[in-house]
This record gives sequence, structure tokens and C-alpha cells, in this order.
Amino acid sequence: MSGRGAPGAGASPPSPRAKTATRLTPSEWGRYWQRPTVTTFQAHFPDNYDGEIADFWHGVFARLPAAARIVDLATGNGALLLLARAHAREHGQRFDLTGVDLADIRPRDALRGRLALFEDLGAIRFVGRTPLERTGLPPAGFDAVISQYGFEYAPPDEAAAEAARLLAPGGTLALVIHHAESALVRQAHAGLEQAHHALASQHLLEHAGRMLRRLQRARTPEARQALAADPRAQAEREALNAALRAVSARAAAPDAGGGAGFADFLLRSLRELLERAATLRRAQIIEALGVIERECRDYQRRMADLVDAACDRQDIDALSAALDAAGLTGTGCAELHYRGALMAWTLTAHRPPG
Ligand SMILES: C[S@@+](CC[C@H](N)C(=O)[O-])C[C@H]1O[C@@H](n2cnc3c(N)ncnc32)[C@H](O)[C@@H]1O
Repeated sequence: MSGRGAPGAGASPPSPRAKTATRLTPSEWGRYWQRPTVTTFQAHFPDNYDGEIADFWHGVFARLPAAARIVDLATGNGALLLLARAHAREHGQRFDLTGVDLADIRPRDALRGRLALFEDLGAIRFVGRTPLERTGLPPAGFDAVISQYGFEYAPPDEAAAEAARLLAPGGTLALVIHHAESALVRQAHAGLEQAHHALASQHLLEHAGRMLRRLQRARTPEARQALAADPRAQAEREALNAALRAVSARAAAPDAGGGAGFADFLLRSLRELLERAATLRRAQIIEALGVIERECRDYQRRMADLVDAACDRQDIDALSAALDAAGLTGTGCAELHYRGALMAWTLTAHRPPG
């Protein structure tokens, strides 16, 4: 983590930037959280946040009272609260844990295969379908309001006012916020570029769809022979193979960055489906292709939303100013590095003791 310091100074506080992209709907997020994933960055954090990110949170938890009431805003499948449970267990604390999310979250169902988490998840109160800027939870009901990669998705002034309302006198606010120049945001840009190349430039899904329909119809050896000899089918096969090669090459290019994961998923899914096409019914192919299309769309929407929600220096100063305006004090902002890469902003503040 880099040096802790006051947010950028300025004569008049900057006003929060109007976020322009369309936010994901609660049902889009809800669909995402049905996956057996603890965080949104499964590839980086398969078990939960670790390293310097976990260190930041353990530092926050260590300074809380032994029976602190903690609410995690935009909790997803409860990653931070699981860290809090582990911390409490290790240090003899008895935290009371609540997680709020806009989506209809059901972490216990989504993570039912992760037996080690089952008991901890059962000890957490999850409140879905609830915007963090209007939780309806009791005023001054929490000793800590926490959030990771979530607070910045809500309107800043309203989110700040709600956080201040929820905090008991002397309570702590701790946030980990997407940083506009972080490795995750760079990866999101790269993923969006890969997706655009595969879908809009190479029309991979359209080529695959045409070939899948032909393969599905060729169910007998004679029909497959006829297909192999059909010049239009040959042209379509060549177009599909050219698109597959182009997407594969783009993903392997040195400047592909972290975006290659999307292309790998798409290529693997389509190749598997093409291999099975002759054994599937038409309706099954349409459904499987529909699932892949929806995954692609959801991925692009999620990455665009992440890029839009991420805060640059001006945004984080505006958010700090919104926290001050909401009556919180001692606002501290820092950059958080994880394994040598810039990963986030941290923002902490307190409600003055009553
Ligand atoms: C990137 S995920 C982070 C989830 C979790 N904190 C984590 O680190 O794994 C962003 C979460 O914010 C939630 N979200 C977005 N806007 C919200 C809002 N206005 N109020 C509450 N939750 C919101 C989404 O449903 C999603 O679960």
C-alpha cells in the first residue's frame, strides 16, 4: 500500500462525477451471483481476497470492538463478511454480520458446494434486493460500514449519506474502491477489446451459428458426406475457421493483457458445441448458443460498468468530500497495491463520537 494521505486539496470540494453508463440491473447481478464464486474476480481470488487486500481488511477488523456490528454494502456472495468471520474466529471476537446487495443474493445456495463456507454463511444475515444508498436498516445501527468494489456503483452523495446514517457514533467506514488505473480496470479494457474483436469484427457467433445449424441437420453418414462436398458449406466452414484463428491469434498477442480470458472462454465453449452439434437436437443447439451469447453480453456489460464505476483522483476526492459533507471525519485515502500491481483506492472515515 502506498503512503496514506489526505485526499487532494482544493479550494472548493469537487462534485461527484455523473456516471454515464447504464448500470447492471439487479437481475443481471443476481444471475452472476448464482455462480459458485466468492468474489467477482474468481480467476484472481478463487477462495477469497488475500495478500495485501486481506491485510487491509484484517487491519480494519482488528481495530473494531469485540462484538462489533458490521454491515457490508454491495456484498455479492459475502466475501468481506467471510473474511470478518475468519478474523473474529482467530481473535476471539463475536462480530454481528449483515450483507446488503441490490441483487437477489443467496450465497448459501450459490456456494453450497463449498462445504467449508456453509456454517460461516449461515451465521451472516444477507439482505438482497436492497440499494446501498437506501438500505432501510436502523440508523446508527452499526460499528462499521464496509464495502469492496461496490460503494462506487451507487450515486456518491446518497451512498455517503446512507453510510453516515448507518454508523453509530465513533463508528468506522472502510471502503475499497475500483481505481481507474488499476490492473483490474486495465484488464476490463482489454477484455472489452477482445470481445469487440471476436463479436463485432470477426462475427464469430454468427459464423458458428450457421455452421452449427448445418452440422445439426447432417445426422447420417450420407448427409455428412453431402455437407463435406457442398461448396456453400465449405465456404462457411472456411469463414468460421478464419474467425476462430483470428480470435485465437488476437488472444495470444503480447498486448492482449488480461483480456485473453474472455476469448479463451468463447473459443472453448464454441469448439465444444461444434464437436457435439451432430448429437444434439435443434432446440438444444439454439439454447446452448443462447447461453453463450448471454454470457458474452453479460461479460461486456459487467466490464463496461466496472470501467465506468472506477474512480480517478477527481472522483475519489469528490467521494471524500461527499463523506465529509455527510458528517464523517478523518477521511483518509490511499492507493492499495496487490502483489506489486495497483489494485484499488482505500477510503476510511469515522463518525465522530456522540
Ligand atoms: C463487483 S461486485 C462486488 C461484490 C463484493 N463486494 C465482492 O467484493 O465480491 C459489485 C456488487 O455491487 C452490487 N451493487 C451495485 N450497485 C448497487 C447498489 N446501488 N446497491 C447495492 N448493491 C449494489 C452488485 O449487485 C454487485 O453484487
